[in-house]
Amino acid sequence: MKSRTLCCLLAAVSVIATAGAVRAEEPDAEQTRRIMREVFGAIQRLLPASLDADRFADPALEPELRAALETLSQHSGRLAAHGTRGDQSFAFLSRSLARDAADIQRRFAAGRTEEARFLLHQITEDCIACHSRLPDADDAPLSSAFMDDEAFAALPLPERARFAVATRQFERALVAYEEIFASPAFDAGSIELLGELDDYLEICLRVKRDFERPARTFETFIARDDIRPMLADELRVWIADLRALGARDPIEGLAPARELVREAEEASPIRERREKHVRYHAASAALHRHLASLPAGDRRAAEVYYWLGVIESRVGRSFWLSETEPFLEAAIRLDPASPLALESYALLEEFVVAGYTGSSGEHVPPDVQAWLAELQSLILHASGEDTD
Ligand code: HEC
Repeated sequence: MKSRTLCCLLAAVSVIATAGAVRAEEPDAEQTRRIMREVFGAIQRLLPASLDADRFADPALEPELRAALETLSQHSGRLAAHGTRGDQSFAFLSRSLARDAADIQRRFAAGRTEEARFLLHQITEDCIACHSRLPDADDAPLSSAFMDDEAFAALPLPERARFAVATRQFERALVAYEEIFASPAFDAGSIELLGELDDYLEICLRVKRDFERPARTFETFIARDDIRPMLADELRVWIADLRALGARDPIEGLAPARELVREAEEASPIRERREKHVRYHAASAALHRHLASLPAGDRRAAEVYYWLGVIESRVGRSFWLSETEPFLEAAIRLDPASPLALESYALLEEFVVAGYTGSSGEHVPPDVQAWLAELQSLILHASGEDTD
C-alpha cells in the first residue's frame, strides 16, 4: 500500500511538473467519449469473466482476455497522454487508470491471473472516482447496452453497484445500493465499513444533485435492527443536513462551498467529523462544478484544489486511490505565493507523514521527503520573490 501511495505521488508530480510546459493536446468531450467507449468495450468483456477465478484462468478464454486487456491498456494510455485538460484531478485519475491497466496487463501476461483478477476489481475505483465528480449531463446513451438485464442481475449486488457507476449507469447503481442497504444479507456493520453509504451519498449529491432521495434512503436504513447506535446518530445528522441543504438555494461557486467546509471543520474532534459528511460532500460537489467552469491554468483554481484536498483528507475512504495529495500539490504549484499554499503544505505534510507512521515510528522514504522539500522550497521561493 505504501509503495502504491508513493507511485501515485510520483506520477502526480510528473503530471503537474509538465502541466505548465508543453501542454499535451487536450481531448474534447467527443474524443473522451470515443476513448471511453473502447475502455468500456474492454471492461465489458473482462469484468464478467473476472468474477469467476476458474473462468478467468481458463486457457480457452486467454486470447480474448489478453486482447481486451491490450485494448484497455492502450486506450487508458491515450486518455492519460491527452488527459491534462488543465484539470489536475482528471490528469491524476487518467494517469492512475493508465498505470493500473498496464500493470494488470503485465500480470496477466506473466500468468499471474489471480493478481490480475483482483486488480481488475480495484481499477473500477479509477472509473468511479472520475465519473462521480460531476453531474450527469444526459443519460448516457450506452447505459442499457452495458449488459443485458439478465447478466446484470446475475452479478452479486455490491459488484452490480460498482460496475454500474464505473460505466456511468447511475440510476442502476443507486437502485443496487438501495437494495444492499435494505437487504438482511448484508449487515449494517460491513455496509458502513465498506464505505457504501458514502459512495451512495456522493453519487446522489454530485452526479444527481438530489438531496431528498438519500434522506429517505437513510431514514429506512436507520430503522434496521443491526445498526450501531452511534452510526444511527450520525445518520440522523446526515438526514437533517440533507433536508436543510436541499431546502436552500443550490450551492454554487467558491464562497458558499468554502463556508460549508469551514462549518464542518469547526466540529473538529475527529470522531464528530463523520457526521458532517453531507456538508463535505455537498461542498465538494459545488467545488468540482466550479473547477470545471474555470479556464485551464487559472490561478483561482488553487483555492478550489485546497478545499478539495481538505475534504478528501476528511472523507476519503479509499486506501487504494487517495486524491488528497494531488489536490494539495496542485494548490501549491498553481499559486505558491498564496497564503493557502502554506496551509496546503502543512496539511499535505501531516497527511503524508501520518501515512508512513506506525508503531515503530516515522518512515518517510527519501524520495517522498525530497518531493515534500521541493514543494516547500517552491513556497519559500515564491514568498521571497514577493517581498523583493
Ligand atoms: C480521468 C477520468 C475518467 C476515468 C478514469 C474514466 N472515465 Fe469514463 N468518462 C469520463 C468522461 C469525462 C466521460 C464523458 C462524460 C460525458 O459525456 O459527459 C466518460 C464517459 C464514459 C462512458 C460513456 C461513454 C459515452 O459514449 O457516452 C463510459 C461507458 C465510460 N466512461 C466508462 C469508463 C470505464 C469502464 C472506466 C474505467 C475502466 C472509465 N470510464 C474511466 C472520464 C473518465
